[in-house]
Amino acid sequence: MAEQIFINNSLPLKERYEDLIPQLKALVSGEDDMVANAANICAALKETFGWLWIGFYFVKNTEAARQLVLGPFQGPVACTRIDFNKGVCGTAWANRETLIVDNVDLFPGHIACNSLSRSEIVVPVIQHNSVIAVLDIDSHKLSAFTETDAHYLEKIVNLLTDGLR
Ligand code: SME
Repeated sequence: MAEQIFINNSLPLKERYEDLIPQLKALVSGEDDMVANAANICAALKETFGWLWIGFYFVKNTEAARQLVLGPFQGPVACTRIDFNKGVCGTAWANRETLIVDNVDLFPGHIACNSLSRSEIVVPVIQHNSVIAVLDIDSHKLSAFTETDAHYLEKIVNLLTDGLR
């Protein structure tokens, strides 16, 4: 297993993703524990892009509710549970698609875990046709995320379920 990520932080965004993805593949290959792999993916994304907050929420079923529950993350402490269809994360879960929010203050029902967050992207993790988790990323800049991020982050979350499908 690779234990270090080497990225030239002066490369343009697309090239940084292109450099990162094979390294992430090597990092998660041979490890089938999803929490361990999610933790390393967060650390690698933080090291590569430096965003404010990067983390996974996992879908958990209790007798009372189906919720997203906080998993591995990098950044400031965050809210631990999010209901289906609530906030940006719960909406991406319900819609089963990546959601980019250019200005979180303009998103109805946005859940503010950190007052420094200005924009956000949430990417669902899908296994056997069900959303099993979401990757949530916050930036302290407005409009920090584009379709390029969506494209590559979708490839990155697929690494979590590749081989487990
Ligand atoms: N803003 C998210 C909540 C999670 S934090 O950003 C870490 C939301 O509205 O779902």
